[in-house]
Amino acid sequence: MKRKWDRSEEQFFGIGVYQPKTNHNIGTLWRSALILGAQYIFIIDGKYVGQTSDTLKTWSKIPFYKYDDFDHFYNSLPHSTQVVGLEMSDNSTPIRNFVHPFRASYLLGAENNGLPEKVIERCHHLVQLPGEHSLNVAVSGSIMMYDRIAKMG
Ligand SMILES: C[S@@+](CC[C@H](N)C(=O)[O-])C[C@H]1O[C@@H](n2cnc3c(N)ncnc32)[C@H](O)[C@@H]1O
Repeated sequence: MKRKWDRSEEQFFGIGVYQPKTNHNIGTLWRSALILGAQYIFIIDGKYVGQTSDTLKTWSKIPFYKYDDFDHFYNSLPHSTQVVGLEMSDNSTPIRNFVHPFRASYLLGAENNGLPEKVIERCHHLVQLPGEHSLNVAVSGSIMMYDRIAKMG
């Protein structure tokens, strides 16, 4: 049977943080996520109860998932969805060369420690933003989401 929709409609993404530390940062990321079109947000092994920096109360508009650990997150991934880790690493693809998967869960690391090696090893993709120093976690996530929009529409 002929498909009745365009391939570009077979896409969605979510974004989240592993072991988040600062509620203010996470609230800022959620606000960007909602504005830039994320379909869900999540945290892994962390606490978040709401923050004034999330002026839109994103958790009330799209699903906010809370996973106990990385395995819980990984085993709960939506069907056919790939994990895109953001981290400065020798194995990371520079963002300018990165082709976003149609269905993606973007994963950021904690403000103090970043993504641990055991998590990095399980990401389907690892992407690095420009610069020699690490960016703020909310800023990093926002740049990534903008890049997706710019490349995929
Ligand atoms: C403040 S950084 C963590 C810095 C941590 N002290 C370290 O050295 O690993 C928090 C998160 O933002 C993201 N991030 C920051 N700068 C990045 C960059 N240049 N490329 C990709 N991700 C970045 C990563 O997900 C990182 O785990």
